[in-house]
Amino acid sequence: MTVIRKMFFSATGTTEKIVTRIADRIAALSGFPQITSDFTLPAGRVAPPEIAHDEIVIFGVPVYAGRVPNVLLKYLATVKADGAAAIPVVLYGNRNYDDGLIELRNILEGNGFFTFAAAAFIGEHSFSRILAAGRPDEEDLRIADIFAEGAWRKYMICGADDLPHPIDVKGCDPLRPYYTPRDRAGVPVNILKVKPKVDPVKCVRCGRCAAVCPMGSIDPSDITQFTGICIKCGACEKKCPTGARYFDDPGYIYHRTELELGYTRRAEPELFL
Ligand SMILES: Cc1cc2nc3c(=O)[nH]c(=O)nc-3n(C[C@H](O)[C@H](O)[C@H](O)COP(=O)(O)O)c2cc1C
Repeated sequence: MTVIRKMFFSATGTTEKIVTRIADRIAALSGFPQITSDFTLPAGRVAPPEIAHDEIVIFGVPVYAGRVPNVLLKYLATVKADGAAAIPVVLYGNRNYDDGLIELRNILEGNGFFTFAAAAFIGEHSFSRILAAGRPDEEDLRIADIFAEGAWRKYMICGADDLPHPIDVKGCDPLRPYYTPRDRAGVPVNILKVKPKVDPVKCVRCGRCAAVCPMGSIDPSDITQFTGICIKCGACEKKCPTGARYFDDPGYIYHRTELELGYTRRAEPELFL
């Protein structure tokens, strides 16, 4: 029986919100049941799900540095399919998705998925509370419904086994290098080693930051200690109930300010059907 699978990595929830909306709409139109594969946390990436031939998979990741987050590439390589239909979806923080969507499409096609529709949506930037604040918003969700209806129509008209693929999307192939933030003199701003700090007065030691870290990098028994890498996804900072997590690295703050000042226009979702 055909199943709608939503599958996503979503540290601050914007990718999950759009993927869920698209999946809900296709499920409502088709009457097919839904399942979820959330690979945000390390436990969700231990083993890939078994994807059946007749599934429709709505597959979402955020855009990091204009590409699919590189920390996910190893896991993504293990997610195999045998001709299952897939809809690649990326969420980006109002700057640009560059080659993120085409990279995700290529990964899925290379793993045996048939990509027949794709989209890029906008989500509040992981580094900021004002850049694309509150997005995806009601208007984005309305567009997600229209996209889902178009994708479902295409699936119905073509039939599961005759879907034209891969879907044609915007982006460069071969892929361009990862986007590098630069200062006004054109010098790269390196924030790779930056980690969020904890305000000891505000922190109530609830352990939420450790629980939501997609890299499992915060020691739950002492949340001031990092045991692994920080990808600057914003989960610990935005999900802290007392606002105790913060970044104060000058390079990080400089980059955030540049983004907030430089990308004030409202970027619109792009749909490929
Ligand atoms: C390390 C990193 C790099 C990012 N690079 C970009 C980028 O190149 N372009 C952009 O518009 N947004 C960028 N973003 C913002 C995210 O794509 C955006 O906030 C997305 O909605 C986050 O998805 P999530 O809520 O599912 O975690 C980046 C975020 C992070 C953490």
